[in-house]
Amino acid sequence: MIVEPKFKGAILLSVHPEGCKKFVEEQINYVKNCEAKYVGSKKALIIGASSGYGLATRISLAFGGSKTDTIGVSFESGPKGRRIGTAGWFNNIAFKEAAENEGLVAKNFIGDAFSFEMKDQVIEYIKEEFGGKVDLVIYSLASGRRTDPVDGVTYISALKSTTGGVEGPTINVESGELDHQVMGDATPEELKSTVKVMGGEDWALWTNALADAGVLAEGARTYAYSYVGPKATHGIYKDGTIGAAKRHLENTANELDKLMKDKVGGEAYVTVNKALVTKASAYIPIFPVYAAALFKVMKEMGLHEGCIEQTHRLFASMIYGDSPVIDEDRRIRPDDWEMREDVQAAVDALWAKVTPENFKELTDYEGFRRDFLKLGGFEVDGVDYTKEIDVAALSELQP
Ligand code: NAI
Repeated sequence: MIVEPKFKGAILLSVHPEGCKKFVEEQINYVKNCEAKYVGSKKALIIGASSGYGLATRISLAFGGSKTDTIGVSFESGPKGRRIGTAGWFNNIAFKEAAENEGLVAKNFIGDAFSFEMKDQVIEYIKEEFGGKVDLVIYSLASGRRTDPVDGVTYISALKSTTGGVEGPTINVESGELDHQVMGDATPEELKSTVKVMGGEDWALWTNALADAGVLAEGARTYAYSYVGPKATHGIYKDGTIGAAKRHLENTANELDKLMKDKVGGEAYVTVNKALVTKASAYIPIFPVYAAALFKVMKEMGLHEGCIEQTHRLFASMIYGDSPVIDEDRRIRPDDWEMREDVQAAVDALWAKVTPENFKELTDYEGFRRDFLKLGGFEVDGVDYTKEIDVAALSELQP
């Protein structure tokens, strides 16, 4: 079959496996050709490894100088009947193939990271087949729901306001128009559920389980990814339900830092990353317009980074480098360029002028749209999109 991009609102429904593979290779080539190289982790566990920041992390660790063996946990599905599967499924396959070609271990666990079963399986694998210990654990999950393994309740997150509601324009990639979007105020229940899903509870469960099982190496480190954003986005992010969840994640980092120090002489931090187009962020109301305005400004200033560039800088110059930017709340800040005053002043000025008629010219709409499509393997250079996809052959591939 021939696959074309198909959307439902901010969700890309179709997937192009060959495009996903090429996009993974593009990111691998970026870190291989990057002057900045680092030596850090030898054995890493990445929770949320199949797309966005988690995938970029895995690529940087494996191919950016460190030659790290990796375990990736993700929630993805493969081909079934006429369904091709998810982009992350094919990203996992492409990563594993490339890593194994260079003699690295790349083990994929597909399933629910929030469950105790997944934690047990990963720990058993570390003990039995991965050399017994990991020295780095990255927590990069983005999910809309979580079943708490302790009480068995399924919590559904809600991307809502906690300050009386916010409204504004958002990009509709499907129609190519600017829509008006209303982000309603969260109920106390919705706020609690979002913190349950996207807060630090599960990161703490993972870290405790790994520490109790004795599979953390001496000096092991763990990092979870967060976002803060400038004042212009506070209504939708920092002061929204997701911001409350991220504060919970940040507080968890402080607790886990004590645990890591006590148990293995290691550390735990939250790193605050740059706003980028990923499956998760495209779904946040109003956020896409901010991202498109930000990309325009940062590209003009020569400061723009995509997921792989941002992540590789985080590891090469901050986590395993000598120029970490750490704020007064003990957070690592690779979003330093996004948050620069001159960048934000230019974004504010631009955003104030955006209308449904001019947004394609004023912002980097084209860059945003392309990044969005690339998440599903579309508009990736070097792919022949007129070629038939053989779904039966794809079913033979295992991540
Ligand atoms: P993403 O949607 O690209 O990746 C999410 C990952 O989580 C995927 O690998 C997915 O398979 C996995 N996942 C989701 N539910 C799962 C489950 N139940 N079990 C196992 N795996 C599961 O998202 P993105 O944007 O890379 O987000 C990762 C982290 O980075 C999040 O904490 C997000 O808040 C943070 N971040 C994202 C920014 C952005 O602009 N995209 C900016 C700063 C931080």
